[in-house]
Amino acid sequence: MASDYLWFEGIPFFKLGYEVEVLKSVKNEFVVRDEDVIEISYPKSGTNWLREIISLIYSKGDPNWVQSVPIWDRSPWLETEAGYEYLPKKEDPRIYSSHLPIQLFPKSVFHSKAKMIYLLRNPKDVITSAFYFYRLLKTETYPETFDQCFEWFVQGNVPYGSWFDHCQGWLQMKGKENFLVVTYEELHQDLRATVEKIIQFLGKELGPEEINSVLKHVSFEAMRDNEMSNFTLLPDTVMDHSQGQLLRKGVTGDWKHHFTVAQSEAFDKMYQEKMAGLPPGLFPWDS
Ligand code: A3P
Repeated sequence: MASDYLWFEGIPFFKLGYEVEVLKSVKNEFVVRDEDVIEISYPKSGTNWLREIISLIYSKGDPNWVQSVPIWDRSPWLETEAGYEYLPKKEDPRIYSSHLPIQLFPKSVFHSKAKMIYLLRNPKDVITSAFYFYRLLKTETYPETFDQCFEWFVQGNVPYGSWFDHCQGWLQMKGKENFLVVTYEELHQDLRATVEKIIQFLGKELGPEEINSVLKHVSFEAMRDNEMSNFTLLPDTVMDHSQGQLLRKGVTGDWKHHFTVAQSEAFDKMYQEKMAGLPPGLFPWDS
């Protein structure tokens, strides 16, 4: 299974869309600009929700942009061949996304004032979401069963590597004024307050009607029905649409319908060991 991935500096990637030379150049040569807005997350954390929110903040709630331009063009993936080629030519302000762990991120970011938003989600729900998502992708490397998905995840043998390392790595940036941490659970619990927090962080000003419009167009149903955001525009050669949708359930706690008691206990133990050093109760799922 490990041989089916593309490996770069000990981190596995899918082969489709990624190149070692590109990953190397992204890390060493890509120039992050002070005006950039970067959405960073581990896969399946709700990245596309955040992308949609930021698009709508930039359009001041006007849905025209999100309804006419595919989400991957509004916010390209930094580390894919397509994103890496396109972003240097793009005018400011650039909005882009990345799942890269911190050690593979462009070095230039550490001297920039670019605004970074790091999105996190309960890792048990990340595993659950990933299990279904990997089956949609036209890749040879996907877990046949949930148990296999669980095993691969805890071993870090999944695209972008260990969730724990990703999280611990990026959280070193916490406290910097150009780095905001947001959780999927917060978005669920109080979408308005979380969107307002993001607006403030981005230094934007939106009126109450504009904010209402952002909230309306980022709902699960609105995104699922928007072909520019629901990934149905991807060709069948990339995504097998007969297997399901990226916007699958959009809830918190679906892991409870998938984990055995033993898996949940083993995961909790591992979580405590790997996340030791972080303040207890830091995340909504810690309590
Ligand atoms: P589920 O598979 O649990 O439904 P990513 O965008 O990082 O690939 O994450 C995908 C997950 O985010 C999916 O979770 C998807 O349903 C959820 N998601 C995407 N848009 C959402 C929205 N507007 N509201 C709630 N969840 C959303």
